[in-house]
This record gives sequence, structure tokens and C-alpha cells, in this order.
Amino acid sequence: MDKIKSILLKYNSAGPRYTSYPPANFFTESVNNDNYIESLIKSNNEGDSKLSLYFHIPFCSQLCFFCGCTTQKMRSDDFVSKYIDAIIKELQSVSEFVNSNRKVTQIHFGGGTPNAIDFSHLRKIVEKAKELFVFASDAEIAIECNPAYLDEERVEQLIEIGFNRFSLGIQDFNENVLKAVNREPSLLNVEELVNIIRKDGRASVNLDFIYGLPLQTVESFLENIKRSIIIKPDRLVTFSYAHVPWVKKAQQVLEETGLPSSDMKIEMLTKGYQLLLENGYKSIGMDHYALPTDDLCLAKEQRSLHRNFQGYCTKRSTGQVLAFGASGISQLHRAYIQNIKNVTKYIDSVKETGFAIERGYLLADNEIIIRECINTLMCNKYLSLQEKASELNVSVSELKEIINFSADSFSEFINDGLVKIEDDCIEVSENGAFVIRNMAMLIDPMLKTGDNMYSKTI
Ligand SMILES: C[S@@+](CC[C@H](N)C(=O)[O-])C[C@H]1O[C@@H](n2cnc3c(N)ncnc32)[C@H](O)[C@@H]1O
Ligand code: SF4
Repeated sequence: MDKIKSILLKYNSAGPRYTSYPPANFFTESVNNDNYIESLIKSNNEGDSKLSLYFHIPFCSQLCFFCGCTTQKMRSDDFVSKYIDAIIKELQSVSEFVNSNRKVTQIHFGGGTPNAIDFSHLRKIVEKAKELFVFASDAEIAIECNPAYLDEERVEQLIEIGFNRFSLGIQDFNENVLKAVNREPSLLNVEELVNIIRKDGRASVNLDFIYGLPLQTVESFLENIKRSIIIKPDRLVTFSYAHVPWVKKAQQVLEETGLPSSDMKIEMLTKGYQLLLENGYKSIGMDHYALPTDDLCLAKEQRSLHRNFQGYCTKRSTGQVLAFGASGISQLHRAYIQNIKNVTKYIDSVKETGFAIERGYLLADNEIIIRECINTLMCNKYLSLQEKASELNVSVSELKEIINFSADSFSEFINDGLVKIEDDCIEVSENGAFVIRNMAMLIDPMLKTGDNMYSKTI
């Protein structure tokens, strides 16, 4: 573990997380409704034909001080109804430009807290989506839930609506940590809650944790991992707390309480990693874990893991993402298109035009190629330039030029045993996965750096 710690300390610089390429700080306001319609039409014949639908529910009953998501305090049910009506109208408008033979393989409700609003709203959206689009029989229907608002009856209602993947935001089991970040604990004992959700294999469970919160110590954080190993969720994520008080003012309060040092955070990450691997989990990327039977592990073995703004997924289950609701980002073959963040303005714009585009980015051909290379490297720790060149219909030398590839630029990583480059094939070692975004930065010719642009790896 000391080895991983020294690697992380050496390479702990600020850089993009590459949940999209180019990253969201490239988006511009010159992208509008017309660009979205044009990109939707093009997406019918280019790239993956499968569809992932993302619905953003930007309301929370109580706001956690650490939160980096786009959300706000819960509004009246009347206001939430208006918001849901706008999503339904947006669904209708978008569906008119999408070929009817394209299948929906994934739906994701995120936020905010989708399980904090009345479930009739969620049902309305799922039913409308099923009416307008064709669904694959094994479609994943996922929801991010705050367990403070889940009891047995509410779980049964969500299952009945069709949800088959539950992501529970635990963050920390320790009630003092939760109090310090203004968060309520789980309503039910989490062991009991997970058993109810997974009864008869009807749904799978992911647990989210954050390391780097006030009052956490290395030992207390590892207690979370030990308890999780007993609960045995299908997936588990340990997020590094992203402290960006210049964007999220509420995070400033946490500085007053005091935050664990980088050194402590690295111990939380690496010791948690070790414990999870010793107890049967496989690592997916740097901070995601899954049981060996989970689809993500199988995809990792076949080097067909994929990633979008909603997290890791398999190429089988994901497609081009159509996002609905305020701040939602659609991820199409040729474009990222983001909706208006302000909820009232989003509702007004959809009422008026059927759409609500605020900003985005249209990708040039070369950028699509760079994105494909960075995604493959980040998800599968492996990039064969020969395989990629033939997949993308370019020569290896053209590909090298487009991604500005030079094996020499990796020399420090090679000397540290973190990557091997042979026959134009980049293969990242198990430890190298901890600094993979630093390696991706070497094949990113558009990399922008500067103060306060990105958070650090740890
Ligand atoms: C939209 S939130 C989760 C849904 C639900 N509202 C909840 O809190 O349980 C998605 C996840 O992002 C993570 N998250 C939020 N803010 C973060 C931050 N500043 N740094 C790292 N992870 C963060 C949390 O682990 C959270 O579970
Ligand atoms: S972490 Fe979840 S519950 Fe807390 S403010 Fe963010 S979205 Fe809301």
C-alpha cells in the first residue's frame, strides 16, 4: 500500500476527470435548440444506436454541505408537478427526432434526490418514456436514492414502477459525520434496506461513500468498508470528496469544521481498496468496485467497459444519452448538449419551445477520435493504437498525430512501473489505475490547465 501512496503523492495534480471529452469547461453558450435537433437527427445514423435516458430531479429535502450536484431545496408539490410536466413535454419533443427502431437499454434517475418527490411523478415519466420509445426487454432502470426517505413500502412502490437498480447514497454510517455535513441517516438499518431491495434477485444495489469529510479518520472510514463487506452490495463507490468552494459556496462551512489531510485521504482510499479486494470485490477504475458476478466485472474482463456522466456501464447496457430536466447533459455521437440549469427558466423554455438548451459542445471528427481513445484507456486500462485505428478507419500514424502520442511522454510512468508500451499498445498496471487520468492527459492535445479549473485526484 505504501507503493500506491507514494504514487498518488507524486502524481496528485489537478486535472480533468474525463467523465466527458472534452470536459464540461469547454461547453459554450453558442449551442442552441437547433443544434440539439440537428445532432439528434444525425445520432440516428452515427455512433451507437441504443439509447440511455437520463432524468434529472433537482430537489432535496435537506441540502448536504459537501454536495457538488446541481440541486436545490425541495419545492411545493405544485411546483414539482410543473417541472414534471415540462420533462414530459421535453420527452415528446425529443422523441419526434429519434428513429423509432432505436431501443432504450438504460434509464437513470439522478439528482438531487429522485426518491424525495411523490412517486406518482416518477411513474408518470417512466410510463411516458415507455409510450414514446421502444424498450429492450432487459433494460436497466436505475434510481439514485437517499436512504433517509426509503422504507419497505416505498421500496415496493419503486419496484412496482419498474426500478431494478438502486444506488443508495450512504456517504458514511457514522451519525456524527452525517450531522457535520447536514445529512440525515438512513431511515431503516441499511442491512435490512438492502435485503428488502434485493429480495428474490429483483433489483441490484450500489452503495456510495465519500472519503475526505469532516470528522472522518482513517479508522472510522474503514469501519464503513467493513460493514459494507458484510452487507455485500453488488457495487460500491468510494468517492474522493471534491472540494470546490469557489463553485459550491456551501462547502466553505466544512473548512471551519476541518477536513482530513490529503495524506489521510490517500490512506482511506488505499486501505479501503485493499480491504475490498481481499474480500472478493474487483476494482473498476480507481474508486468503483463490483462483485465478480456483476456485469461491470465481466465487461472489464472483455475490455468493453464504458463510462458516461452517470458512471461506469457496459457497452451492452448503454447507448447515446438523451438527458431530460434542468441541467441534464445529452451525450450524443457528435455533441454534448446541456439544458438550462435554472429550474424556472427550464420550465418556461420547454413550455414555449419544447426544448431548453443552455450550452454545449459540437465535436469535430478528430475530437470524436480522441474521446474514443481516452475513454478506452480510462475504462479498460488498455489502448491498442492498431486496434483503435482500424476500428476508427484511420491509419496508426494518423491516429498518433491526432492524439499527439509520444511513448517518451510516458517515460516517468514507465519507469515507475505504472504502464507498459509495446507495439503501440498502452497497458496500464493495477497500480497505474490510480493515476490513469494523469496518463489520459498525455493523449489529450486540447488539455487546458489553470488555477481552480479542476479538483485534484485526491
Ligand atoms: C446526486 S448524489 C446522490 C443521490 C442522493 N441525493 C443522495 O444523496 O443519496 C450522487 C452522489 O454524488 C456523490 N457526491 C456528491 N457531492 C460530492 C462531492 N462534493 N464530492 C464527491 N462526491 C460527491 C455522493 O456520494 C452522492 O451519493
Ligand atoms: S448529496 Fe444527495 S441529498 Fe445531499 S444535497 Fe446532494 S443530491 Fe441532495
